[in-house]
Amino acid sequence: MLTGCGASGSGAHSGASLAVVSSYMPQPVSATMAAGFLTVVNKGGAQDELTSVSSDAADAVTMHETADGAMREAGRLAVPAHGRLVFRSGGDHLMFDRLKHRPEQGQTVTVDLHFARSGDLRIEMPVKSATYNPATGH
Ligand code: CU
Repeated sequence: MLTGCGASGSGAHSGASLAVVSSYMPQPVSATMAAGFLTVVNKGGAQDELTSVSSDAADAVTMHETADGAMREAGRLAVPAHGRLVFRSGGDHLMFDRLKHRPEQGQTVTVDLHFARSGDLRIEMPVKSATYNPATGH
């Protein structure tokens, strides 16, 4: 092991330790549906699972996985120990259905992530341009 067994004694081996990075919502072109992307990083020594997602901006948020070019709803998605769960354009993603208002660039959307072991994690997801590319930042 290169990391995680130092002298900190933080108990990192006993459970999952989650953080969300790189979250964004491309400004939706539809008045009713939007997509969302983010990465969940697990610095802990135990796997966790993302079981569901909710937001006050939409009646329903579902997790979709993409396989062989087709998308389908995912039940739960694992966040491996010392690993990450990545939602990105062209891959797994969040779908916001029945938007209560249409999010615009510069706003944020409150999103609650529900995990099997770590409980709930609330994030403020920034709304980017409809063509935002996280690799370039534009
Ligand atoms: Cu989808």
